[in-house]
Amino acid sequence: MVRKNTSIFISGTGSNLNNLIKKSREYNFPINIKLVISNSYDAKGLNFAKKNSIPFLIINTKKRNYENYILLQLKKYNISFICLAGFMKVLSKKFIYSFQNKIINIHPSILPKFKGLNTYSRMMENKEKIAGCSVHYVTEKLDSGKIIVKKKFYINEKDTEEIMKKKTQKLEYKAFPEAIIKIFRNI
Ligand code: GRF
Repeated sequence: MVRKNTSIFISGTGSNLNNLIKKSREYNFPINIKLVISNSYDAKGLNFAKKNSIPFLIINTKKRNYENYILLQLKKYNISFICLAGFMKVLSKKFIYSFQNKIINIHPSILPKFKGLNTYSRMMENKEKIAGCSVHYVTEKLDSGKIIVKKKFYINEKDTEEIMKKKTQKLEYKAFPEAIIKIFRNI
């Protein structure tokens, strides 16, 4: 099996990145993480790239044409698949078209419910009974592409936002690798 050269885009803690790095060491996992891209200098997740000797780039999104720079770097590293793992920047239509059906994202809700930011607080306000996560293809409409894997759990009355996040992320560490396996098993 030829593993897909993959880039993971992050902005923060990078716990999903860390999980995918671990998974990618397993026999037969379909991706090889070749490049980490962050839009923030102080993203903690960069340490996982450093620790595992994975090349990383920090992108200044204030610069014009920063997406062209990313595209160039992706080409340089021969990247054919992208995972957004807590990447807080919305990609342009042009960027998405140049990697059509090759960008996936993980979102902390059961889509199509609770697209966008602050999912946990909105769920609590809404007195939701079920929470979870979704891995989906990235399209130009935010959090709206075809869903690949969803996982859910029942919210306990005592769950705080912090606990909901923990429970959700535990599921994310299963959902993201599962989605990747599902995509490449079908090709
Ligand atoms: C994840 O919970 C994901 O659902 C959301 O951002 C969070 C990133 O967490 N899109 P981490 O940086 O992978 O720890």
